[in-house]
Amino acid sequence: APIEAPEFKACGEARDVATGDLLDVNCCPLPSDKIIDYKLPPVNKMRIRPAAHKVTKEYLAKFEEAIRRMKALDKDDPTDPRGFMQQANIHCAYCNGAHDQVGYKNLDIQVHNSWLFFPFHRWYLYFYERILGKLIDDPTFVLPFWNWDNPKGMQMPKIFDNTGSPLYNANRNQANRPPAIIDLGFSGASDDLQKVVNNLTVMYSEMIRSVNSTIDFMGQPYRAGNSPSPGMGSSERGSHVAAHVWVGNPKNKYREDMGNFYSAGRDTLFYCHHANVDRMWSIWRTLKTDVPKDITDPDFLNAAFLFYDENKQLVRVKVADCLDHRRMGYDFERVDIPWLNYKP
Ligand code: C2O
Repeated sequence: APIEAPEFKACGEARDVATGDLLDVNCCPLPSDKIIDYKLPPVNKMRIRPAAHKVTKEYLAKFEEAIRRMKALDKDDPTDPRGFMQQANIHCAYCNGAHDQVGYKNLDIQVHNSWLFFPFHRWYLYFYERILGKLIDDPTFVLPFWNWDNPKGMQMPKIFDNTGSPLYNANRNQANRPPAIIDLGFSGASDDLQKVVNNLTVMYSEMIRSVNSTIDFMGQPYRAGNSPSPGMGSSERGSHVAAHVWVGNPKNKYREDMGNFYSAGRDTLFYCHHANVDRMWSIWRTLKTDVPKDITDPDFLNAAFLFYDENKQLVRVKVADCLDHRRMGYDFERVDIPWLNYKP
């Protein structure tokens, strides 16, 4: 059977996944008596997510205003599920063991380390984006993606590094602020050119060379009654984790914010990073490799999550409805993909 959507009323303690330590945080969402099965609205006009290093001034002004309003909600109405901390806590609740599997009190819901990784984060960003759009009355709003798979995007995007901006977050590794080049392969290389070469090799490997089955890329099957974290796919394990570790502050106990599940959503850069992770799933599905690109197992397709939408309505979504992001109304700006032919 598929993993069912959690019961918010049963939400409990959050623990650090690596150590099992109890975390000093309550990340449970407020319950709601009314849950609606979500239907994707018709797509009138495709919204195009831009590369973060290339956004226009007008776009940046909107994005900053939307985040400013989302942060203001924390103070104006801490119970509004669209507030910045409430949104950050979604990640904590689904990733640090606060939600149990329905019917299995001793088994956590964990949306990482399995085939739920891509779909969960796609839905999470989908509603985050719609909430930001609602807060600035612009239903065309889109999140930017951190284009770390292209040499032009291999620094922390500068729009997140302006200390006067609501996008800024002090809980990052100060040594990795721009112009530091990201290290997607944990190579420890100090030479910038070498890092760029390594990064492209990592991308080619996790997208193509090391992917011999659908599960290799998507992550291992995870069904109701299974222990959490059966195994990561190549993209989750590689560039995805690397960017989290690289941005998180090593001086903090749990490498907050980006370096731990419970705190990662407190960094605006998280959503930009995951927009590119989402883009990698999208690109992978178009690759002309022999590996089948879709999981047809009903336990995958019928797995469900709960989110609050832009109107504060609690909705239930299914994995099957997020496989084609164009049906969700967004696509990605086209940029060069230099790792595509980067055979070592
Ligand atoms: Cu839910 Cu990048 O983590």
